[in-house]
Amino acid sequence: MKLFKKSLYIAAAMLVSFVSVQCKDGKKKETSTEVAKTVEEVTITKESFGTTEDHIPVENYILKNSNGMEVSVITYGGIIQSLKVPNKNQVIEDVVLGFNSLAQYEKPNPYFGALIGRFGNRIAKGKFSLDGKEYTLATNDGENHLHGGPEGFHRKVWTASEKQTEHSASLVLSYLSKDMEEGYPGNLKVEVTYTLTDKNDLAVSYSATTDKKTVLNLTQHSYFNLSGDFSKTILDHDVTIDADKYLPVDATLIPTGELRDVTGTPFDFREAKQVGKEINSDNEQLKRGLGYDHCWVLNGKEGEIAFAASAYDKASGRMLEVYTNEPAIQFYTGNFLDGTLPSKQEGTYGHRTGFCLETQHYPDSPNQKDFPSVVLEPGQNYKSSTVFKFSVK
Ligand code: BGC
Repeated sequence: MKLFKKSLYIAAAMLVSFVSVQCKDGKKKETSTEVAKTVEEVTITKESFGTTEDHIPVENYILKNSNGMEVSVITYGGIIQSLKVPNKNQVIEDVVLGFNSLAQYEKPNPYFGALIGRFGNRIAKGKFSLDGKEYTLATNDGENHLHGGPEGFHRKVWTASEKQTEHSASLVLSYLSKDMEEGYPGNLKVEVTYTLTDKNDLAVSYSATTDKKTVLNLTQHSYFNLSGDFSKTILDHDVTIDADKYLPVDATLIPTGELRDVTGTPFDFREAKQVGKEINSDNEQLKRGLGYDHCWVLNGKEGEIAFAASAYDKASGRMLEVYTNEPAIQFYTGNFLDGTLPSKQEGTYGHRTGFCLETQHYPDSPNQKDFPSVVLEPGQNYKSSTVFKFSVK
């Protein structure tokens, strides 16, 4: 902390002397403004985001780095409410869909920006067995269970604490999910840390422990639109996904169990490709998902943080790269957005105006023995990490 304060003083001193030299030399004012930007300090501010229908106060934590990049996280659902990122001309704009009011987040919505638990993605018919005992989960997607159920982690108010270093700002969110919540066994203690660094990385680290054998698959459900203009679709973004295989789904979007080669299909994103290039092609799987709504099996070694996917918006120059130690990623192209939900900007969110890159284990894993295990036992520590890395090009 001392070191941190000391370097701030040094930075401030450098700024003052530089500005005064500039003034004596009669150079333009803009020059000193640019310098001021480079020595902006990391900050965390907290403000109220209202109270829930049940009268629980909700806070909004705004983490800011020295480049002016800013993430707002609300304690309701651990939702990333806004993510302001510079474009190639240093213009800082919001790149995630969401709402301006808590009341809107409390109404049914497609999990905008939320932390998802206990299980990201679908579990067939909301049922699974552990050690011969069958568990029945709340169903909320036809006959299936989706994203932890109707009262999943996206609707919980999390306890927050802040951490700050010279080059990073973190928000630590914790939540105790009680035994049998939404049908899942075990008292589960969960901690999720959002860290914004001076490298324009937003890291999301998950950890959890349980007192009974259970299943767990946490993820983050931000909808990105790198243009910063939510009236535009994301169809002209260039996407890459480092995966040779993806999981085809049945009519209810449950994986069939097959790991299918992407070669020669619209699912091949190993080289950068515009999202819109093949999204409407005559392909049985695209018809099922009404676009891309599938899980890709990542090439990286399980358990090691590796590059998973990227998205690039040429007009703004914004590039997003996703790194994770999870074995898979769900790429969802906002196919169910239909112009009914109010935008943070003007108007409403139209079809395909946001995409999600949700790092995770495979959907329906508790029922599919050949998929990597999602079982968490007492005494084990669940650990998962994802980094959303922003740059311009
Ligand atoms: C799923 C979609 C679903 C969306 C919103 C995505 O993760 O893959 O099928 O519509 O979340 O719930």
